[in-house]
Amino acid sequence: MTTTTEAVDQVFLYIFGISVVLLLAITATMVWFVVRYHRTRQPQPQASPRSNLWLETAWTIIPTLIVLSMFWYGWQGYTTLRNVPEGAMDVKVSGRKWSWSFTYPNGRVSDILVVPVGRAIRLDITSEDVLHNFFIPAFRIKRDAVPGMHTYEWFVATEPGSYDAFCAEYCGVAHAAMITTIEARPEADFDDWYQRKYETKEEQENGRQQLATYGCTGCHSLDGSKMVGPTLLGIFGRQVKVTRNGQEHSLIIDREYLKRAIVDPQAELTQGYPPVMPAYNWLTAEELEKIVEYLEELQ
Ligand code: CUA
Repeated sequence: MTTTTEAVDQVFLYIFGISVVLLLAITATMVWFVVRYHRTRQPQPQASPRSNLWLETAWTIIPTLIVLSMFWYGWQGYTTLRNVPEGAMDVKVSGRKWSWSFTYPNGRVSDILVVPVGRAIRLDITSEDVLHNFFIPAFRIKRDAVPGMHTYEWFVATEPGSYDAFCAEYCGVAHAAMITTIEARPEADFDDWYQRKYETKEEQENGRQQLATYGCTGCHSLDGSKMVGPTLLGIFGRQVKVTRNGQEHSLIIDREYLKRAIVDPQAELTQGYPPVMPAYNWLTAEELEKIVEYLEELQ
């Protein structure tokens, strides 16, 4: 199986190599002509031949063949990128302002992409709000995430390790925060991770993992610092000014407010922050309860 990295690198090196050879050959010829035909060597202009059939044929055919070979090679690479190998594992990738979330065939949801080494992964990409672009430089793949549409790309990690993934389509103030990690683990390690829903029992209980998984921490800090949205540290019991139906209200944050703010964030906007949070109305009552419980403890 040709990996996406190999497919792209081969074409790149081929075109780059030809470009270097041409650059050197043309520059050398130019310099040679300047010296060879300098005025001091040829004070009187001389008539030159009007045409040379062999020369003209050669400089038409050779470059055409070179360009066609680049196209053919590029086409091979493109075909590799677009044809997912059989038996690839399907992972759903969803982009939203401003985080990525990955859903596995068994329902496991994660905010980082953990993959088994040596196994092809097919990414089924979409967006919940605006255009994003899922870009993994190490595997040379990059594809738009379009709301209401599914795009795909595939890759295989041949070495264990961690690789960066970015959003490569400007999508708003926290575009740069849409960075995540691809973790390639040996098959057995991966299976271990895949079968467990959470990393550790602790993480499952304290809800921090959940906030990361749902992308909350992309905009809300847990340490008091101001990001796109208000910090979640000490949010419970905080007094805030909100705008409801265009009217200003002052309220103390309680469980009910937190639930409303997660399910329908636009209804009561905290003043001083942009109205950009997507509605989390798809969370189950149980999930919502867990998050609110965690926020209550986060003091
Ligand atoms: Cu998402 Cu840029």
